[in-house]
Amino acid sequence: MAKATTRFVCQACGAVTPKWAGKCETCEEWNTVEPETIAPRPGAASKGPAGQSVTFVGLLGDTAPPARAVTGIDELDRVLGGGLVPASAILVGGDPGIGKSTLLLQVAARLAKTGKRVMYISGEEAIEQVRLRARRLGVADSPIELAASINVRDIVASLERAKDAALVVIDSIQTMWLDAIDSAPGTVSQVRACSFELIRAAKANNFALVLVGHVTKEGGIAGPRVLEHMVDAVLYFEGDRGHQFRILRAVKNRFGATDEIGVFEMTDAGLAEVANPSALFLAERRGNIAGSAVFAGLEGTRPVLLEIQALLAPNPGGSPRRSVIGWDSSRLSMLLAVLETRAGVRLNMTDVWLNVAGGLRVNEPAADMAVAAAIASAAFDKPTAPGTVYFGEIGLSGEVRQVAQAEARLKEAAKLGFDTAALPRRVAHGNRRLSAPEGLRLEEIGHIADLVARFAPENTKAG
Ligand code: TYD
Ligand code: MG
Repeated sequence: MAKATTRFVCQACGAVTPKWAGKCETCEEWNTVEPETIAPRPGAASKGPAGQSVTFVGLLGDTAPPARAVTGIDELDRVLGGGLVPASAILVGGDPGIGKSTLLLQVAARLAKTGKRVMYISGEEAIEQVRLRARRLGVADSPIELAASINVRDIVASLERAKDAALVVIDSIQTMWLDAIDSAPGTVSQVRACSFELIRAAKANNFALVLVGHVTKEGGIAGPRVLEHMVDAVLYFEGDRGHQFRILRAVKNRFGATDEIGVFEMTDAGLAEVANPSALFLAERRGNIAGSAVFAGLEGTRPVLLEIQALLAPNPGGSPRRSVIGWDSSRLSMLLAVLETRAGVRLNMTDVWLNVAGGLRVNEPAADMAVAAAIASAAFDKPTAPGTVYFGEIGLSGEVRQVAQAEARLKEAAKLGFDTAALPRRVAHGNRRLSAPEGLRLEEIGHIADLVARFAPENTKAG
């Protein structure tokens, strides 16, 4: 007869070790390893009953695309790839207080109003609190079925009886508790076991399950990074609490594209969809200031215009400071080196601060050109032309390289009233010819020195 065994699980990354340790060997976090007792499962050992044979089929067959439930909140539907898929599990992660409960209550209310059966189970807030929030959001008349519970056994039993549910929201997975597991809610083992039971109920009863998860400041969902591979989609709700906008980002999606974003704005009456994020991000831009350039970026499939700001300050002694918010700092170092070496912009005795205005984080190398323009503009104290957007990757020899989706970027720039785009030289790519939208002038830039020349007084090098 098998005995209950104890193993040790890191609460930060989920790594399992046979021995306790003060520091997790996998993620190198301190004081995260905790004991966990596993009771033997009857029949789980190799001595159990013989397995049945699995049926294998060919790749071709009649499989209809999933019938999605459209929530009516376009920013969410797009991120999901066209709506909620029945019998799927979605993890919505984000910092505490960012607006996850608000968003999901709004989504649940919208869907319930279309006649779908929607259940919202809160483990964090009492019924009264959720009702108050619903009133504030103006959705109190929506026929959501609301419950406050943390007991997964009870929840699953109730869901088994509700065969026709379209959406079940669990807020949050870290508060859920399964009596079979001997550890506190929020620990890796609880989160894993609770999710497993809930996901199984979703698959068996054909509803879409949304699990809300709080995230640690490092970006992993607290405890359960283990959760990410159990679910069909992982959406992160992010944003700076100092700013109004929130971004819902798909980092995994079995039923749609990843890196798709939905943009929302937190208002007094909940989250409002932002159909035109560029206008939001550029709203506070002041023209005619040196050190600012507009980047025509791409978030997922979505073009977004952003302002990149650079500030330079002389630092004659010691090592100059480089500080970046919203972009990659090693990328900035590289770009500064290229500016010095290939375009003669002297920055070795200058502090450089770089900021993506509005609090968004940019990951694209395509931002190189806009960053270089902002820095060159600051270095020579000459503002960029107010109607110009920039995009293009810059290589180590100073060459400006092609980037993906130039057309989409140009279209967005034209839509927002920009008149010029500084972009990589359009080498003939097969038969593809880039066409400029009406009213937009294209200025091809082949080398970083050509970009700098637009800011530098003739034949002068900065210094
Ligand atoms: P909440 O949805 O509770 O966050 P989470 O579930 O991610 O922890 O959001 C809480 C914050 O949102 C809180 O600071 C107040 C703010 N808020 C608004 O600004 N407007 C609103 O209409 C609501 C409901 C919340
Ligand atoms: Mg909440």
